[in-house]
Formats: sequence, structure tokens, C-alpha cells
Amino acid sequence: MQYITLGKTDISVSVVALGTWGIGGWMWGGAEESESIRAIHSALDNGINFIDTAPLYGFGYSEEVVGKALAGRRDSAVLATKCGIWWEKEPKPEGDGELHVYSTAGALGNAENYERILYRYLRPTSIRAELEASLRRLQTDCVDLYQVHCQDATASIAETMETLLELKKEGKIRAIGVSNVTPEQLAEYQKVGYVDVLQERFSLIDRDVQKNGMAKTAEENGMNLLTYSPLAHGLLTGKLSPDTTFAPDDFRSSDPRFAPDSIAAMNAKLAQLQPLLVKYGLSLVQLVIAWTFSTGPKTNVLCGARSAKHASENAMAGSVRLAQEDLDLINGLFS
Ligand SMILES: NC(=O)c1ccc[n+]([C@@H]2O[C@H](COP(=O)([O-])OP(=O)(O)OC[C@H]3O[C@@H](n4cnc5c(N)ncnc54)[C@H](OP(=O)(O)O)[C@@H]3O)[C@@H](O)[C@H]2O)c1
Repeated sequence: MQYITLGKTDISVSVVALGTWGIGGWMWGGAEESESIRAIHSALDNGINFIDTAPLYGFGYSEEVVGKALAGRRDSAVLATKCGIWWEKEPKPEGDGELHVYSTAGALGNAENYERILYRYLRPTSIRAELEASLRRLQTDCVDLYQVHCQDATASIAETMETLLELKKEGKIRAIGVSNVTPEQLAEYQKVGYVDVLQERFSLIDRDVQKNGMAKTAEENGMNLLTYSPLAHGLLTGKLSPDTTFAPDDFRSSDPRFAPDSIAAMNAKLAQLQPLLVKYGLSLVQLVIAWTFSTGPKTNVLCGARSAKHASENAMAGSVRLAQEDLDLINGLFS
């Protein structure tokens, strides 16, 4: 496994990170707790020390599972979670935030617990309350990386950053990250404080951060680019087929990218990578992960896994070094 530092800190993080949205079950057709815990342990045993979760993932459930898995092993993980999405059924402390999404049991989950209205919501008091709840669920007294999950246009970015800086001074968080920002919002955060991590969608087929200049801004300012959905929710694994069916409460069941024709076209394109798999002795997933962290000096690839098999396969990609000519070849195929 290769390791890099986290933002301006001296914390060392693996280039392959473990994402735990799927472990929360919500929007992913459920998850099996004991296998989720095995996945987290397998990640740690195979060199992944960077684990990302969020209160939103299963409405606290993903954090609880991560907390259980890390009991007695907290020191071996760099733990990242988030704030900024209100999913509680109780009224918000002040103001309304912005409507984010309706989560209904029928469309997105099969449990009554999933029926909620989600808001993008950031206030100094709510950030503090969210952090306290996360610390409880995660069974820890400090979050290594605290990230703003989504941006709330009704909140002040300066006030949000000031709150995060206070939490850092108080020793409750060790580094600061932002996610789902525009280049302008990122610049506003930087005016007030230091951003250690930019967490954005990035994969072979999702290149917005390269196109809008944020990948460059991150590199020039010593931020880590923590790339989410690097396997495009499974589309880039080559393991889906046009016959694959998704549970009704799996969001991919209604995503056009996962329609049979789209899966077939992607698999045909991915098949062109076969010579590289032979050359390096890698699985397709490992090649895709290695390409992703090779795109920048401080890129961590945040792969979602909810089985020990997937977690260890993904971790093994962390030691791969691809030659420039092969990176160019992959870029040419997927540009
Ligand atoms: N900041 C944000 O707004 C945001 C948004 C999205 C995601 N994230 C973070 O990023 C993480 C990763 O993103 P993601 O979960 O959307 O998608 P992803 O990592 O691109 O893909 C996950 C999918 O890939 C499959 N997979 C993983 N490893 C595999 C392997 N070795 N072989 C075959 N299939 C494999 C999983 O299979 P199974 O279905 O069998 O588990 C799952 O279907 C999340 O868990 C979360 O921590 C953040």
C-alpha cells in the first residue's frame, strides 16, 4: 500500500480508502452487518487505514457499524465523517436550509425508518450537534477528518469554516474537508481557513474536477483529492451484465447508466483494457483504482465495499505503479 499525508497534517493515509455508504444499506438495497464488519476489518488488515462514513448513510447506521468494527482498533484507522445534511425527524434549530431530497420507503428503502425529508443544512449549532452524535455512534472522542457533505446556500461559508476551525482547536477534529462544492465555494472556504481534503466525484467517466480546475486547485494548495464513486457505483467493475437486476430500493434500478444497453456498451469499452490486466496481473477493478490515484500526487480513491472480498481486492491495488505510457493509453480510451 502507498501512503500520503492528509492535507497540511502529518497524518498518513492510504491511497485506497474505504467508503461505507453501501454499509449503511440505505439506497443500496440493504447490507448485512457481520459482513460489513468483516469488510472493514479486511480493509484494515490489507493496508487501508482511511475510512469514510457519514451520518446520512443509513441515518446513523453506517457510523454505528464503523464504530463497532473499530472498537479496540481505533488507532489503526484515520476516520472521516461529515456534516451538513439534516435527516432527523425533529425540527431544525434555526432556519430551514435547502431541500435536498425526499427519501421514501417505497422508492429508496424498504424500512419505515427511510421515510424522511432531507435538507442541506449548516449552522454552527447544528454542526456541533451533528459532530457530538457522530462521536457517540463512532465510539470515539475525535474525528480525524470532518467534511462538509453538501453545501447549503442559506448558510454562511465563513461561519461554517470558523466553526470547523474552533472544533479543530478544541481537539474534536484533526483535519477539515469539503465536498460537493463549486470552484467559487472552495475559494470562499480557503479565504477563511485551510481545506485539507476536497471530496468529489471522480472516475474514468466522471471528470468534472479536472474540467472545472478544482483538481488543479487542490494540487496547488496541498489538499488531498478524495475521489468518490471511482467505480461509478459498480459500472466500472466489469462485473455487471445487461441481465443484472437491482433491488427496487437500490438507486441503480432507476439510473439510466445501469440500463442494459449502457452496461453492455461500458463492458465493451472496458474489454479494451484486457492487455493491461495481463501485463500487470491485475483485476479490472484494481486497474481502475490504480489509474485513479495515479492522476495526482495527493489523490485517495474512496471505494465503496461491503464485503471482505471486495475490500481486500481493492486494497491490493494500492501498491500498483502504472507506467506513464499505460496511463496515457487509458486516458486515450476514456477521454
Ligand atoms: N461526498 C459525497 O457526496 C459522496 C457521494 C457518493 C459516495 N461517497 C463516498 O464514496 C464511497 C464510494 O462511492 P460509491 O459507493 O458511490 O461507489 P463506488 O465505490 O464507485 O462503487 C461501489 C460499487 O462497486 C462495487 N465494488 C466495490 N469493490 C468491488 C470489487 N472489488 N469487485 C466488484 N465490485 C466491487 C460494490 O459492490 P457491492 O454492490 O457488491 O457492494 C458497489 O456496487 C461511498 O461509500 C462514500 O463513502 C461520497
